[in-house]
Amino acid sequence: MSRLLVTGGAGFIGSNFVHHVVEHTDHHVTVLDKLTYAGNRASLAALPSSRVRFVEGDIADAGLVDGLVAAADGVVHYAAETHNDNSLNYPQPFLQSNVIGTFTLLEAVRKHGKRFHHVSTDEVYGDLELDDPDRFTESSPYNPSSPYSSTKAASDMLVRAWVRSYGVAATISNCSNNYGPYQHVEKFIPRQITNILWGIRPKLYGEGRNVRDWIHADDHSSAVLRILEHGRIGETYLIGADGEKDNKTVVELILTMMGQDADAYDNVTDRNGHDMRYAIDATKLSTDLGWRPRFRDFERGLAVTIDWYRDHEQWWAPAKDATEAFYAQLGQ
Ligand code: NAD
Ligand code: DAU
Repeated sequence: MSRLLVTGGAGFIGSNFVHHVVEHTDHHVTVLDKLTYAGNRASLAALPSSRVRFVEGDIADAGLVDGLVAAADGVVHYAAETHNDNSLNYPQPFLQSNVIGTFTLLEAVRKHGKRFHHVSTDEVYGDLELDDPDRFTESSPYNPSSPYSSTKAASDMLVRAWVRSYGVAATISNCSNNYGPYQHVEKFIPRQITNILWGIRPKLYGEGRNVRDWIHADDHSSAVLRILEHGRIGETYLIGADGEKDNKTVVELILTMMGQDADAYDNVTDRNGHDMRYAIDATKLSTDLGWRPRFRDFERGLAVTIDWYRDHEQWWAPAKDATEAFYAQLGQ
């Protein structure tokens, strides 16, 4: 497989994947991205044009998608609306991009007989209690909570149906919370880091007891590449790096690592329907495909991420004011 079509490759995880592919393989990449507020061409600017071609467009544009899929050997599908807080306020684009967009891509890979990898989220499984001894596995029942996670769940179901009914050569991965470079400042970790850099107090939803299972975006990329190259068609793989932390601990860690008092944050209005805990059991991925994360020490990964945001203010500053204005309206 040498020509990859990567949808959403100007977003956070998609751009990390394109960097990873250029560094670790010989594949040529075409990025298809609509450049919504979450997409940023600057995230790909350092990559050679001999390896990466950029096409601005919508995954729900069937004509455009048909031509790009025909010219590719495989498709890695990241493009989506991804922010829970946005989905609670404006759900329609989540239906359009996550469901209709995925459907449009599936029809094109079906027609042209191309390999497809669908990037999804652990949120399709709903949430766990703080003291639940079990973690999510590939056989956990689907139980999404938000407009975002319900549209991701719907897109997973479409992929499964297209595999079974039409023999589409697809795999699915469901990953936990990512952190790392090129993440939009609306998301938890970059929001707090950039707040501190601009002298704004970090904002913790509720009491911060909610737990997320953090993985560095580069480890997510290596896992997706492994599944693309060695995964069994029709299978789902969970991706995680044993990184469970509650939000209060993460905010305190960021503050301390950036030279502030650990309690210099504000508790703000909680998110509606806020999932309590996500936790991934990635045994299948490690046992069947031999995958291991590179960043096993969250503090080391966080330190590198803090340095990246300190050094790349020109990348994130243009989005910061509008993001904080949106949160201010919500009391967050
Ligand atoms: P992001 O919001 O940073 O990027 C999404 C990208 O998709 C943007 O570049 C945007 O312009 C593009 N896009 C949106 N709608 C489009 C459309 N209709 N046509 C073409 N392009 C479109 O998202 P992210 O955090 O990088 O997430 C990428 C994927 O990974 C998503 O499918 C998400 O569900 C999944 N995921 C994310 C996480 C996480 O922690 N962020 C964890 C697990 C899975
Ligand atoms: O689990 C994977 C999912 O992780 C992905 O599918 C989503 O696309 C991605 O956005 C992420 O979802 P979360 O809702 O968990 O991420 P977010 O960064 O929005 O919030 C992480 C936690 O931090 C969550 O419990 C809410 C909380 N939070 C968030 C923000 C933005 C705060 O306490 N303060 C904040 O300012």
